[in-house]
Amino acid sequence: MSKVARVLAKKMLTSSEFEMASALIKSDGKVPFQTKALWNVFPYSYYAYGMFHGCRLAAALGIKRVSSIEFGVAGGNGLLAMEAHARAIEELVGVSIDVYGFDTGAGLTPPVDYRDMPYRFKKGNYRMDVEKLKGRLERAQLVLGDVKKTARTFLRDYQPAPIAFVSFDMDYYSSTMHAFQMFAAGNKDDFFLPRIFMYFDDVVGNEISCYNDFVGELAAINDFNAGSRDVKIAQNRVFRNYNLNFPWYHQSYVMHRFAHRLYDKYISKASARSLALK
Ligand SMILES: C[S@@+](CC[C@H](N)C(=O)[O-])C[C@H]1O[C@@H](n2cnc3c(N)ncnc32)[C@H](O)[C@@H]1O
Repeated sequence: MSKVARVLAKKMLTSSEFEMASALIKSDGKVPFQTKALWNVFPYSYYAYGMFHGCRLAAALGIKRVSSIEFGVAGGNGLLAMEAHARAIEELVGVSIDVYGFDTGAGLTPPVDYRDMPYRFKKGNYRMDVEKLKGRLERAQLVLGDVKKTARTFLRDYQPAPIAFVSFDMDYYSSTMHAFQMFAAGNKDDFFLPRIFMYFDDVVGNEISCYNDFVGELAAINDFNAGSRDVKIAQNRVFRNYNLNFPWYHQSYVMHRFAHRLYDKYISKASARSLALK
């Protein structure tokens, strides 16, 4: 990079973007997977982002196998993307990924009350062609049935590897609250990373959905947090580092399991010599 370009770039880009651009130039144009995810290059880049960083955390903690979950599968486009990202990330990070998809198989259940936003979501929407999807899946396991029951029995029945990434895309407040049962504070640490990357599909929306803190997934996040001292779901604030702005940057969250035996384990790269006087 010429001196002028360097000065201009430093003025125009945030420090994180500048580091990314410099690394890109040095790498001869080969864009790293995690940068492609951040730049929204892939279908379901938000899955790629969360799965990659979940696996990076697992690797830092010495964990070799994790689980990635999609709540709300519909036709299966997201679950197939999750499988594709799993293949790529396993190669890059060296952590194996089990993929699970939860769905009724028959589309949305009836809305329970106004918090399920009946003005936006309707019983029967987003049906799955179960046999067609099963024919396309390579590794993902479909957990079919109402999540009210499956989220309660999943840990016991499947004994999953620690959960590293979860996508919530079941639209309703009620279904999201049912799914949260799986993440209750008392459940065994072995089933979770201490920090779990999460994506919530229904928190940005448009002028028809008018998502807000009192209905849908946002209300579920608030109610979960209010009822849980040791486990909280917080927005992923990393994206404030970038001038870029994709909707999913505002849909990205992290579950913090403060009482997890690995929550405090030091994984930063900073050392005693960092920030020494030059
Ligand atoms: C918008 S679709 C999911 C779209 C999918 N993630 C994608 O990217 O293509 C919502 C799905 O959530 C599922 N769902 C909603 N409530 C559920 C419940 N209580 N139990 C199981 N699945 C549920 C519906 O069956 C529906 O297929």
